[in-house]
Amino acid sequence: MNVLMVTSECAPFIKTGGLADVAGALPGALGPLGIDVKTVLPAYPALMPLVARGTEVASFGDLPGGAGRLVEVEAEGVTLLLLDAPQLFDRPGGPYSDPAGKDWDDNHRRFGSLAQAAARISFDGLLGWKPDVVHAHDWQAGLTPVYLKQPGVPVPKTVMTIHNIAFPGRFGGHTRGELGLRGDWFYPGAGYEYHGDVAFLKAGLAFADRITTVSPTYAREILTPKFGMGLEGILQARADVLSGILNGIDTAAWNPAKDKALAQTFDSKTLARKAGNRAALCKQLALDPDHQGPLFCVISRLTEQKGLDALVGAIPHLVAGGGQLAVLGTGAPELEAAFKAAAEEFPGKVGCYIGYDEAFSHLMQGGSDAILIPSRFEPCGLTQLYGLRYGTLPVVARTGGLADTVIDANLAALRAGVGTGFLFEEVSAEGIAGVLDRVFRTYADRDAWQMLQRAAMRQEVGWDTSARAYAALYQEVLSE
Ligand code: ADP
Ligand code: GLC
Repeated sequence: MNVLMVTSECAPFIKTGGLADVAGALPGALGPLGIDVKTVLPAYPALMPLVARGTEVASFGDLPGGAGRLVEVEAEGVTLLLLDAPQLFDRPGGPYSDPAGKDWDDNHRRFGSLAQAAARISFDGLLGWKPDVVHAHDWQAGLTPVYLKQPGVPVPKTVMTIHNIAFPGRFGGHTRGELGLRGDWFYPGAGYEYHGDVAFLKAGLAFADRITTVSPTYAREILTPKFGMGLEGILQARADVLSGILNGIDTAAWNPAKDKALAQTFDSKTLARKAGNRAALCKQLALDPDHQGPLFCVISRLTEQKGLDALVGAIPHLVAGGGQLAVLGTGAPELEAAFKAAAEEFPGKVGCYIGYDEAFSHLMQGGSDAILIPSRFEPCGLTQLYGLRYGTLPVVARTGGLADTVIDANLAALRAGVGTGFLFEEVSAEGIAGVLDRVFRTYADRDAWQMLQRAAMRQEVGWDTSARAYAALYQEVLSE
């Protein structure tokens, strides 16, 4: 079976969040199941060295954003089809925004071109290779299923995966001409219109053969107004083709026994060696190295979604209860400022690094006792999975994939030896303070804490089960 992935991020080449981790690891997990994956990805500046050593396999004169070509190259176990269109992608800044953080004003043309290049090769094939299934990720790939809807023509089946519904990819209705979208499909309900605009994600949800999201709980949550963010209507209408498949993690890249970014490697039998990582982490963030209480970490985009404003309110309680806090993140200026201010107010107890640093995120997982994830919504979440693998117990809000991956260390779980972290209900300073008290009590019992760490490290967090679920979904949709 051949599968074409369409994505705007792919680790380790270009990453702003978990989508990249998933796009980077899933192809490798599908390979052993007999699925040949190629991945269409924009040729951003970071990808240019790969473009230089790849082979041109297709060229287009008239994508929505002008000319472009696809360059095939193998790298890090992934077969990439890089969309080389310098006028769209070879610019400074991030994948979606300029160096000042402002969204590029031609994003509809940039990602419309990505989707259209993917659709064209799906029709025409690439040197004899044709996809059976086209798998589009998030709004950036959302137009692919629409471009592929050609009544009467045999086309591959399409799967649309929602990683983050908070980004619908909304552009003015006038863009539909430029994007080459059929005018008679510009309507609400089952069309691609959304309140007078073109919405790329909605288009994908309306036109794909299957819709998935990245955890079973989130698949239920998005059917409600609270979590659907205005797309609950189309999702309810298509609930029969919607399912949740939990993300896995790359267990080779995230292996505490072999991780080169750690000061000291360890496994579940040598947990005391985490201390070496803690010492390195404390040094880097100017935290008191002799402190005795639990060290909590945060590794996150600093956005509304992640509930970190509520955590800021709970910092005095965290410190008063004997905890330390290490923060690695970047994003909303007011949150960056709030964590910097907390580090000044509580020297040695709170430390933060405002920025993005992949290697440091590994050291943080290696050296902390617990990872705090107070998200208001969380489609899956990956940092709690990394935490489990590194014996860094997740302290998480009961929502989405967080609820599906962490076993609360309540009394029954403690007695049965199956707890792997702590769940709480209310994302507020009080809600977080409440769960912190439970963490402090459990941490004081060193044997209980170690039992939780070992249970966490035993938990299955790789891709095997979920890759089989995707393979089964592809089979199912193909058999129709
Ligand atoms: P989301 O995709 O919503 O940001 P996930 O938990 O799925 O959330 O994935 C976030 C990914 O980004 C993880 O791999 C996490 O380690 C990484 N990450 C987030 N912020 C930073 C940062 N400041 N530095 C390094 N890695 C980060
Ligand atoms: C999104 C979600 C996150 C998920 C990631 C990968 O960015 O916010 O919960 O883990 O995508 O699917």
